[in-house]
Amino acid sequence: MNNHEPAATVESRSNNRRLVLFPIPFQGHINPMLQLANILYTKGFKITIIHTDFNSPNQSNYPHFTFKSITDGLFKSENRSLNLDTSNYVINFLNESCIEPFTVCMAKLLELEPVTCLISDALWHFTQSVADSLKLKRIVLRTSSMSCIPVYAAFVLGETSYFNTTVKEELALMTENDIEKIHKDRSEKGNEEVICSMIKETKASSGIIFNTFKELEEPAFSALSQDFHIPIFPIGPFHKYFPASSSSLLEQDRSSISWLDHQPVNSVVYVSFGSIAQMGEAKFTDMAWGLANSKQRFLWVVRPGSVHGSQWLESLPKGFMEDVGERGRIVKWAPQQEVLAHQAVGCFWTHNGWNSTLESICEGVPMICSPCSYDQPVNARYVTDVWKIGVMLDDEMNREETGIAIKKVITGKEGNEMRKRSKSLQEKVNKSLRNGGSAYQSLENLVDYILSF
Ligand code: UDX
Repeated sequence: MNNHEPAATVESRSNNRRLVLFPIPFQGHINPMLQLANILYTKGFKITIIHTDFNSPNQSNYPHFTFKSITDGLFKSENRSLNLDTSNYVINFLNESCIEPFTVCMAKLLELEPVTCLISDALWHFTQSVADSLKLKRIVLRTSSMSCIPVYAAFVLGETSYFNTTVKEELALMTENDIEKIHKDRSEKGNEEVICSMIKETKASSGIIFNTFKELEEPAFSALSQDFHIPIFPIGPFHKYFPASSSSLLEQDRSSISWLDHQPVNSVVYVSFGSIAQMGEAKFTDMAWGLANSKQRFLWVVRPGSVHGSQWLESLPKGFMEDVGERGRIVKWAPQQEVLAHQAVGCFWTHNGWNSTLESICEGVPMICSPCSYDQPVNARYVTDVWKIGVMLDDEMNREETGIAIKKVITGKEGNEMRKRSKSLQEKVNKSLRNGGSAYQSLENLVDYILSF
C-alpha cells in the first residue's frame, strides 16, 4: 500500500440529538450520505436513515443506526435497472412517489421523539416542503463538486448571474461537447427540471454540506457564498473518515488487491466508470483495444450490464484475454478506495463521477478522463484544465490514440508531472482535514450550527 496519510479522525462526543438522513438510492449518493452519517454519529448525534426499498443499504454494517424503509413505487422489473438513460426519469418519479410515504414516516418519527434536523440529498427536492410543513430544519447534502452548480446554473438554466463572478474563468473552460453531455437527455427525461428544483429547494434549506474542501474549489465556493444565502459546509472528502466499502451495493472483488500486490509500482491503469454509466459495444471494444495497444498493465472494472446488450464480457473482442495475458485483469466490482491507494496503480481511467474523482485526488493518482454526463464533464474539465492532474480522452479518439494516451500518463514525462501535482493536491487534502484545516473547521461549524437549532 502507499505510504499515505492516515484517515482523518473525529473524536466521539455525545449530545443525544437525533438527525434523520435521507439518501438518494444510487451508489454514488448512498456512499457519501452514509459516510456523513458516520461522521455525525461520531460527533454524538443519534442517526436515523430513511431509505427507499430500491437499493436499500446493508443495515448489518450499521448496527448503531436506526433504519426506516419507505415504499418507492418503482416497479420491480422495469424501472429498477437504473442507468444514464433512465436516471433523471427515476429521480423525478421518486420525488413524486415518495412524498406521501416519506411524510408519514417523518411524522411518525416526530411523534416518538424530537428530531433536530433532516439531512436530505439535494436531489430529494420535495423534502423541503415536507420539512416546512412539519416545522423541521432541513440541511442539504450535495454529493457532486461545488463547481458543477455554477456550470448548471449558467449553461442549463441560463442564470447569467454567475457570469460576473469569480467562476467566469472556469466557466469559459467548458466546451460545447461538455455542455452537450450535460444536456444529453434534456427535453424528454427532465434534466432541467431536476436541476432547477434541486437549486431552488437547496436555496430554501437551512444549509448545504459538500463532499469537498474549500481549497480545491475556491472560486465556486465564493460564487455560491454570494448566491446561496445559507451556510455552506465543505467538510470532505468524507471517505478520509470512513471508507465507502460498507455501503457498497455490489460485492467488491478482493482478488483485485492480491493481483495488484504482484505488479510493479505505478505500473497499472485502473479503469472504472462508476455505478450507472453504460456504453455501446463499439466504445467497449475500442476501450479493450486501447488497453491492449497501450501494452500497459490494467485492472478493469466491467460492471455486469454496463455494456448495452451484454450480460458481462460477451462483447470483448475475440482473443483479447489471450492477447493481454497476465498483463490485464477484469473484475465486476472492485474495492476502489483500496485499489487507488495501492502503490501499483499509476493512473485511473475514469468517468469522473465526483466520488471517483475525489478518491483519486486523495491518493495522488493522475487521471484519464472520459466523462459521460451529469457533473462528470465539469469534474473532468477541472481535473485536466484547472488542477492539471489528468488528460481528456475524447469520444472520437480511436484505439491507437487511446493506447498512446494511456502510455503517456503511465510512463511519460507529462504523466510524471501530473503525478507530482496530484501528490501536492493530496497534501492539501490532508492539511485541510487536520486540526486547524478548513474542512476540519467546517465540520466543527456544522456541528455547532446543528446544535444551535
Ligand atoms: C453518480 C454520478 O455518476 C456522479 O457523477 C455523481 O457525482 C454521483 O453519482 P457514479 O456514477 O456511481 O455516481 O460515480 P461515483 O461518484 O464515482 O461513485 C462511485 C462509487 O462507487 C465510488 O465511491 C467508488 O469508490 C465506488 N466503486 C466504484 C466501488 O466501490 N467499486 C468499483 O468497482 C467502482
